[in-house]
Amino acid sequence: MDATEGLEISQGESFIDVKSFFESAPPLKNSDSITQKVKEFIYQNSQFSGNAKSVGVVCVTSGGTTVPLEQRCVRYIDNFSSGHRGAASTEYFVKSGYAVIFVHRRGSCQPYCRYLPEDSFLEFFEVLNDSEIQVCHPHATVVKKAIKEYHSAVNGGFLLKLPFTTIFEYLQIIQVVATSLSCLGPRGMFYLAAAVSDFYVPWESMAKHKIQSAAGPLDMRLTQVPKMLRILRTDWAPSAFCVSFKLETDSEILLQKAESALRKYQMHVVVANELATYKREVIAVTLDGKISIRKQSEDADVEDQLIKLLVEKHNNYIECCGMGEIIT
Ligand code: PMT
Repeated sequence: MDATEGLEISQGESFIDVKSFFESAPPLKNSDSITQKVKEFIYQNSQFSGNAKSVGVVCVTSGGTTVPLEQRCVRYIDNFSSGHRGAASTEYFVKSGYAVIFVHRRGSCQPYCRYLPEDSFLEFFEVLNDSEIQVCHPHATVVKKAIKEYHSAVNGGFLLKLPFTTIFEYLQIIQVVATSLSCLGPRGMFYLAAAVSDFYVPWESMAKHKIQSAAGPLDMRLTQVPKMLRILRTDWAPSAFCVSFKLETDSEILLQKAESALRKYQMHVVVANELATYKREVIAVTLDGKISIRKQSEDADVEDQLIKLLVEKHNNYIECCGMGEIIT
């Protein structure tokens, strides 16, 4: 697919920025195979009545994008996102009957693996004999549950995982998913929890080789990454239900910024969260008002309540669009 496909029908400066971003980005590796996987996954989950497999298809984005500083990349700019929000949300979407396209940062937190330790993985196992190992007793329950749920999601065809690392890969993958998902109309959903870089070095002005420290202090000009939310709504998947996130460190401006994003980018919901409290509290901002969601207990996930609310809002949206019986 031409990366700038569909852009010419839109006007305005931001679309020109988007077009030049895609034109100058290094081509997405395995683009054809990614497109094919996405289309097949959507097709297999596009029957919504009778023997419906899923109630809708949601694209969950998760983890942070990197900004390479060199074409043969040694150094890059990164951010704090662990991918926990996206991984947990994916599990709750699958539990609610959705098929999930999980667009995630390579190496970030994965659905059904959230309870497995990253640094002491081998401590979970013990060797029985030359050919057998077993999960140590105190961990067996959690591992068994994770394995069962993971296989059920993957083998049932409810989970497609697409990895990215850089901002270039992320935005190209989102474009492929969005233009493919548009065929589902309002049954498609975007849940954009990834922490997306706001600034980048355009490929053509990027150093080809490792930047040399002998040249002295480094002056670097970063260009603004065009916001993709607007084009997602207007061009790529205009009927899909869109949930974006707003993260701030200053609670004074959080809600005002979330409300502004809701209107500016015509989002259906903006989930506002503050860095200091984002694991236990979020506020869902809609045109109808704000709903604060807090973790119910220490062991609970805030995503459990959040996804319940979004599923309800998505159902109302589908009904409003008069597409309760849609079959593509
Ligand atoms: O992964 P965790 O550690 O669990 O953390 C989860 C989280 C805090 C990262 C998550 O809850 C969250 O808030 N994600 C969004 C963070 C972010 O990038 O906020 P933003 O204000 O920069 O962007 C707002 C929205 O615009 C995002 O939905 C993003 O997808 C979108 N965006 C951003 C930049 C850009 N160039 N184009 C975009 O479309």
